[in-house]
Amino acid sequence: MAALLFLLLLLSTLSSPCSSSASSDSLSMDSSLSVENTDDLLTSPGGVFSAGFFPVGDNAYVFSIWFSSEALCGSNCTVVWMANRDQPVNGKGSKLSLLKSGNLVLTDAGPITAWSTNTVTRSSAKLYLHDNGNLALYDMEGEVLWQSFDFPTDTLLPEQPLFKDMQLVSSTSKTYYSSGFYKLYFDTDNVLRLLYDGPEASSIYWPDPEFMSWEAGRSTFNSTRVAFFNSLRNFSSSDGFTFTAADYGDRWQRRLKLDVDGNLRLYSRGDGGGGTWVVSWQAMTQTCRIHGVCGPSSLCNYDPGSEVRLSSFN
Ligand SMILES: *[C@@H]1O[C@H](CO)[C@@H](O)[C@H](O)[C@H]1NC(C)=O
Ligand SMILES: *[C@@H]1O[C@H](CO)[C@@H](O)[C@H](O)[C@H]1NC(C)=O
Ligand SMILES: *[C@@H]1O[C@H](CO)[C@@H](O)[C@H](O)[C@H]1NC(C)=O
Repeated sequence: MAALLFLLLLLSTLSSPCSSSASSDSLSMDSSLSVENTDDLLTSPGGVFSAGFFPVGDNAYVFSIWFSSEALCGSNCTVVWMANRDQPVNGKGSKLSLLKSGNLVLTDAGPITAWSTNTVTRSSAKLYLHDNGNLALYDMEGEVLWQSFDFPTDTLLPEQPLFKDMQLVSSTSKTYYSSGFYKLYFDTDNVLRLLYDGPEASSIYWPDPEFMSWEAGRSTFNSTRVAFFNSLRNFSSSDGFTFTAADYGDRWQRRLKLDVDGNLRLYSRGDGGGGTWVVSWQAMTQTCRIHGVCGPSSLCNYDPGSEVRLSSFN
């Protein structure tokens, strides 16, 4: 039924010329978004999310998805997904194109392929940005060819599952978006863990490695390996780990992020997007027990009062 509706939707939009793609919720075949045109955005139907070229440095952009906001958020937008954060593209000549072959390709001036979905279709394809933050590429039959929810960056959104073989990886710093050293993933024993995976050392810090999995309330028996949180406030993982956020209700925007300091936090803010993000749960209450935090180049000369500062990470 959903596929049928989708097909009708697709047919109704295919007849319109697809030369301009500015500020729509979709990108048609044989069209592209350009880095030079700041209006070249996809905006989800309800205006909750936008996708486009996000500035990450001097003349450097990453194709990203962020929470839309009424005011122009510029480089302060809350990004939830990035296509190619380890290879930003140039501010001139770069574009995201949906080719006739069905491949979604990000090209840098050159043109060099900076990222692609490696998809093919013999029918038609269309890229949609949904109000749940998922950017999905469909074929003519409404089958998903590729979706951003399958390739998370450092953030999970409500109802976005983290399966085995997926991971969240922190950014290097608040202003430098390339992949950092902290990871959230399912270990081979089916337990959801936080890992510091640095150049010289690698260590698990959550759940507390001083305890056996069962002592930490984790089960190793369920090989399904899936974790997600719902829009109300519950998080649950197939290893038995659950938490309930302090604030209740679906009139909140939420995101679960593996922050630059290695802590995993659930952020919430009022619907409408105006307000500030509030931490409604975090994995580590004693931040200094996160590997690397107290080492060289540390964030950590924490006195107890400074824990409060944590709420400003996002
Ligand atoms: C982004 O945040 C910085 C620091 O808070 C502020 O100075 C700047 O004006 C903000 N930019 C936009 C576009 O809101
Ligand atoms: C959320 O979690 C609470 C406490 O664990 C539970 O009582 C409630 O049924 C859960 N709600 C949903 C919608 O999963
Ligand atoms: C394994 O985890 C999944 C997802 O949480 C759950 O639906 C399923 O019932 C679990 N299986 C067992 C045997 O506990």
